[in-house]
Amino acid sequence: MLLRDVEPADLDAYVRMRCDPVMMSELGGPQPRERVAAQLTRDLETVREGSAWIKMIVPGQSAQVAGTVTLYLHDGISEIGWMVLPECQGRGLASEAVRAVLDLAREDGRWGLIHAFPSTTNAASNAICRSTGFTLVGQEETTFAGRVFQTSHWVFDSSAHG
Ligand SMILES: CC(C)(COP(=O)(O)OP(=O)(O)OC[C@H]1O[C@@H](n2cnc3c(N)ncnc32)[C@H](O)[C@@H]1OP(=O)(O)O)[C@@H](O)C(=O)NCCC(=O)NCCS
Repeated sequence: MLLRDVEPADLDAYVRMRCDPVMMSELGGPQPRERVAAQLTRDLETVREGSAWIKMIVPGQSAQVAGTVTLYLHDGISEIGWMVLPECQGRGLASEAVRAVLDLAREDGRWGLIHAFPSTTNAASNAICRSTGFTLVGQEETTFAGRVFQTSHWVFDSSAHG
């Protein structure tokens, strides 16, 4: 598996991830295509500035994108998120990619405590947090895409692991 920075040609993968009702069921519902294109433009700019990591997951043997892991700063905290396309799920790709990004974050040294807020009902994402070294801090309501979700709050200390 490879991780690479997002590129303009990733619009198709963005649309397949973010306009899909099943993919987005725990993330506020599917987004309109125009909004996804605008998000890609913003993400490319963010990566150019170096203020966030938006990594595309590319499984070995293929140039096809399988998903994404993002790590960004907002409101003074570092937050990580992930998605894997339906046809690529269940093969351990998300776990492997999250573990790789956490390793990079540890080497990079600037991310401190990394927070994740999967919905309490998102069994796969909570399993990823558990197996990649996050600690469960509690449950709380999180507003995302204009909706309130009951989420698990997980934290990974990127300055303490290794
Ligand atoms: C969540 C998601 C990224 C998982 O991707 P994936 O590549 O299938 O995950 P993996 O194969 O690495 O599996 C991760 C863990 O979840 C478990 N898992 C996978 N699918 C599961 C399911 N449907 N129910 C319960 N557990 C599941 C796996 O057994 C594995 O557990 P382990 O680490 O204890 O072995 C993917 O389903 C997805 O993109 N969903 C839609 C978007 C989303 O919910 N994003 C996360 C928002 S926080």
